[in-house]
Amino acid sequence: MIQFDSAVLPSAAQHDAIRVFLNADHPDFEIFYLAQSDPTARMAEDVISGLQHSPKRLPSAYLYDCQGSLIYEQITQLPEYYQTRTESALLRQIAPDLSFRSGAVEIIELGSGSSEKTRILLDAWKKQEMAVTYIPIDVSPQMLADTASRLIRDYPMLRVLGLVGRYEEALAVLPESPNRLILFLGGSIGNFTPEEQTAFLSRLKALSMPGTRLLLGFDYQPHAGKPVEVILQAYNDQAGVTASFNRNILTHINNRLNADFDLSAWEHQAIYNPQQHQIEMTLISRCAQTIQVLGQPCQFASGERILTEISRRYEPAAFARWFETQGWRCLESWSDARRYYGLMLLEMV
Ligand code: AVJ
Repeated sequence: MIQFDSAVLPSAAQHDAIRVFLNADHPDFEIFYLAQSDPTARMAEDVISGLQHSPKRLPSAYLYDCQGSLIYEQITQLPEYYQTRTESALLRQIAPDLSFRSGAVEIIELGSGSSEKTRILLDAWKKQEMAVTYIPIDVSPQMLADTASRLIRDYPMLRVLGLVGRYEEALAVLPESPNRLILFLGGSIGNFTPEEQTAFLSRLKALSMPGTRLLLGFDYQPHAGKPVEVILQAYNDQAGVTASFNRNILTHINNRLNADFDLSAWEHQAIYNPQQHQIEMTLISRCAQTIQVLGQPCQFASGERILTEISRRYEPAAFARWFETQGWRCLESWSDARRYYGLMLLEMV
């Protein structure tokens, strides 16, 4: 049985919603499952209220069931999906300096997935023989468990403390701690609406101290060197991987909420909204149809859309100024030569 380390997670020790998910015979590897009281009831509420909204929408978090997380990994390999490759190259460039400069002994990662890009950073910590506790947070328990066991095999100086749950729950159990680096990569900050983004940042603040660092990955808005088509193609790929990723949200709903979505009746389309500077990933109903979700009928007109995800783009200087207003100073930022994608290192003031 894994001993619960109350020095690392004191608030979690009192949290009765937490339980050990995985028992590995390894002292450097623990995973905690932040159990919701009734996840299916919550999903039902989210899905039904989203489908009653006009226009219809679904929370993008439900894209990431086990299958969805695996399809997303395939997306990151697509020739059109430039973000992951560009971010990895930037991380490679900054990793050695970052490990020295931040001196972090604790790295928290939001939405860690396969932690593939994180390895680039961990390599630098390993080279400098710096011990570090890595706290990956992800909604997919399988993904987290597989990733954590591979990581401790490859990084002897590493202790992994995985948290299975949504950001809100996971951030709520982490106490303040010095020498902390928070990673929020891949451009996932763009999935928040402006209001959600502000709420998210105040949650981050609760576990940060002056000096806490945040390394953020984000995609640039279109400009002279970055035509909007580049962004559109990244979300409407030739091989149709993003289309299966998008449709998989319906399979997830079918499985969990006993719904009867017919996947072939839905077309994937991602559009760019230039006013909000965001990709809007949608599913379009190919015909007039009625879907049952937990016995509740939901009607769709032919051509009606469901919004499944927004993914916002930023102008780096304005983004840094916005962070200033929230109590974070931008220490440095990097981008590729084409100015497609960027990283920003922020410090809590
Ligand atoms: C994982 C949220 C960063 O917004 O680009 C990829 C998800 N959606 N293709 C993104 C996604 C469609 C991705 N993030």
